[in-house]
Amino acid sequence: MSELDTIRLLSSPAEMREEMERARRSGRKIGFVPTMGFFHEGHLQLMRKAKADCGLCVVSIFVNPIQFGPSEDFAAYPRDLESDLKLAASAGVDYVFHPEPDDMYGPHFQTSVKAGKLSENFCGASRPGHFDGVCTVVAKLFNIVTPDNAYFGMKDYQQLVVIERMAADLNFHVRVIRCETAREKDGLAMSSRNCYLSAKERSIAPRFHEALNQMKMELGIIKNDKNSFSLSGFLANYSIKLKSGGFDSVDYLKVADASTLEEISDSSSLSRASGIFIAGAVYLGRTRLIDNVVFDL
Ligand code: PAJ
Repeated sequence: MSELDTIRLLSSPAEMREEMERARRSGRKIGFVPTMGFFHEGHLQLMRKAKADCGLCVVSIFVNPIQFGPSEDFAAYPRDLESDLKLAASAGVDYVFHPEPDDMYGPHFQTSVKAGKLSENFCGASRPGHFDGVCTVVAKLFNIVTPDNAYFGMKDYQQLVVIERMAADLNFHVRVIRCETAREKDGLAMSSRNCYLSAKERSIAPRFHEALNQMKMELGIIKNDKNSFSLSGFLANYSIKLKSGGFDSVDYLKVADASTLEEISDSSSLSRASGIFIAGAVYLGRTRLIDNVVFDL
């Protein structure tokens, strides 16, 4: 028997729900990892943790059309189900839920979740409606899979915080588990979209995380400096550094409180923040990369 024989692949929401009800009745705990597929080590890390914590690991693979803007890469988003199933099996996954868009959004679909203030800045400002689309599909998936625990990566930190809020606000009976960002050896955050990068772009890409780390160090020093400093000057400097380092443009580069996601603009709000979130989105050619660092000062 190959590893693949141990995985169950389902596409119907009703069947998936029935299967989960059966598992629950027999006393199983369900760990769930929602994804859009094209797996890399970051995804696999989430699956291994779900399996280790819960015993039963369910992964969804669904490129969710309603979280992409009209000029974004929905059609081009990389897909490879065969390879994903092998990788999922190697991580100990029990069920893969892989619906078609019509299974999730029938002809009469019209109800959605509206994310709140946490979704408005950062990626939400550049991608209007994106987090409403994410929340809507994650809410549907939570209802279909009925997980005890759901695993999300810190790589998409704003998404994680928005989903934690949604789960609390809408009383989902699920524990949202935060997982560290998996990185390549040179520091580049793993992403399904890294496959878009040319060799030249790939060699520039790690400078993004390097810059975020430098910013983190510098903010630590600035915090102890009694002279007030200009955060906007600090950010503008790093934007210039990124562009001279080879990035084509900087979509945003911001510092915020890690819990409220409220932007920090001066040294006094920096020292008041419970945790710090430095986040950015940059373009290399047409590829948009996001990354962040979250830390206590
Ligand atoms: P996707 O980009 O496929 O990511 C699925 C999960 O893997 C998310 O929780 C994401 O944060 C996590 N992830 C991605 N790269 C990671 C990395 N380098 N290290 C750790 N975790 C990483 O995020 C989505 O899909 C979608 O928006 C989804 C939540 C599935 C809703 O459609």
